[in-house]
Amino acid sequence: MSQYPAHIYNNVDALSRAAAQRWMELADQAIKAGGQFHVALSGGTTPRSLYERLATPEFAGRVDWQHVHVWFGDERTVPADHPDSNYRMACEALLNHVPIPPAQVHRIEAEKDGAAPAYEALIVGAIPRSAAGVAQFDLILLGLGPDGHVASLFPGTAILQERTHQVAAVHVDKLNTWRISLTLPVIDSARHTIVLVAGAGKAEIVRQILTEGPRPVPYPVQMIRPGGTFDWYLDAAAAQALPEAQP
Ligand code: 6PG
Repeated sequence: MSQYPAHIYNNVDALSRAAAQRWMELADQAIKAGGQFHVALSGGTTPRSLYERLATPEFAGRVDWQHVHVWFGDERTVPADHPDSNYRMACEALLNHVPIPPAQVHRIEAEKDGAAPAYEALIVGAIPRSAAGVAQFDLILLGLGPDGHVASLFPGTAILQERTHQVAAVHVDKLNTWRISLTLPVIDSARHTIVLVAGAGKAEIVRQILTEGPRPVPYPVQMIRPGGTFDWYLDAAAAQALPEAQP
């Protein structure tokens, strides 16, 4: 993971602004090339900051929302209006404030039985595939947990071994809950991936991932083998333990 670019910003506002700018570039590029921009959103407080920034006049008016399709990298097994819902968070932070056609917001109906195969069918039916036949998102956004999880790919969970399905249900023992998540094959397949990390609480995991060598058991984020670009967007607090950050 250390071989991928890490962009460090003074604070989460600057991080969010830079990530929003990158979003716009990638959206413009995808829409010009293929007429649509398929992006998978992440849950989490750091990704939320980006969504709020995208909803501001500085950015919202510069995205061709009529050609954007919003998907979700993972979802909690709760209804759409539940406080824990990633969909609800994305609506509050962004989707309720921009003119994206509602039919182009693809919620994971995680509270229903069969949510994973249903979402996989949606993705396979709507998103162009890679040469390997895997859905190829234009952009996948990820947050990073202090345990190195991304999406709902938590350490020690069975979903980390899923190489056939592009979406799967996963029981997260430590949270005692089920989640629905994209799997590693479809994350690997993305044209562009951005990991958004902010706050001092992530400094140690960031240091380990970006500076230490391979681990006997890699963190989930280290299991990604990106076929496209893979960029870290960090604020100074999250980057404070990196060598380049030392005074
Ligand atoms: C979720 C997210 C999860 C999140 C990380 C980081 O559903 O919670 O998909 O992967 O992005 O836990 O979250 P924070 O940015 O809030 O630390």
